[in-house]
Amino acid sequence: MLLQLNDISKSYVGELVLSNITMKIESGDRIGLVGVNGAGKSTLLKIIAGDMPYDNGEIYIGKETKIGYLRQNSGLQMDNTIWNEMLNVFSNLLEVEKELRELERTMSEPSLIDNTKEYERVLNRYAEKCDWFMEHGGYEIDAKIRGVLHGMGFEDFPRDTLIHKLSGGQKTRLDLAKILLEQPDLLILDEPTNHLDLATLAWLEGYLRSYPGTILVV
Ligand SMILES: Nc1ncnc2c1ncn2[C@@H]1O[C@H](COP(=O)(O)OP(=O)(O)OP(=O)(O)O)[C@@H](O)[C@H]1O
Ligand SMILES: [Mg+2]
Repeated sequence: MLLQLNDISKSYVGELVLSNITMKIESGDRIGLVGVNGAGKSTLLKIIAGDMPYDNGEIYIGKETKIGYLRQNSGLQMDNTIWNEMLNVFSNLLEVEKELRELERTMSEPSLIDNTKEYERVLNRYAEKCDWFMEHGGYEIDAKIRGVLHGMGFEDFPRDTLIHKLSGGQKTRLDLAKILLEQPDLLILDEPTNHLDLATLAWLEGYLRSYPGTILVV
């Protein structure tokens, strides 16, 4: 089980919006949340994502559950470039890559080569980090970012395009691209098709169809 809600209730200044919501999300579920405008769909998603407090009930989220949430308002850093914003998703990998470069420098120092024991220690550490980097897709970062940016219609945008220069719809698409790159266990999308043209919509449908994680979509 990824997540469970028990008897969740929520009011905004006296107006009851959600009443006794109980639901369970299992790994691999594909859930469509349907309701008229104002029914409380976005409110429910905000509560699940931890963006909004609730009045009553309980939420259980699996310890390992990584949630990705496409908000109505973009969570992008406006003064960043398109490419660097995507790279942020891989910050832990990039950190390890930096360590690898440092270890390479250390290994090439003449003083270390004379010190067999220390040299072996560094070499082992380097091998370990190298394996981790490769297993976690360290060599696929560029290809993954290019693929998602292309799918979301940014193929003609220079990498150094500043995010604040994008239109509202383009920001939503970029936000979606970033969340897809994060590959969360639970992907929460609040009306993701609002700003998509047909080609991008078709790409997203295909992407979600082969998405290995769980999806909750309004
Ligand atoms: N921050 C808020 N403060 C007060 N009332 C709010 C707030 N956010 C939402 N509401 C009200 O709560 C109700 C549910 O809103 P919500 O945005 O959850 O609905 P929704 O189902 O997502 O609607 P839509 O389909 O239009 O996106 C609406 O009546 C809305 O006006
Ligand atoms: Mg909504």
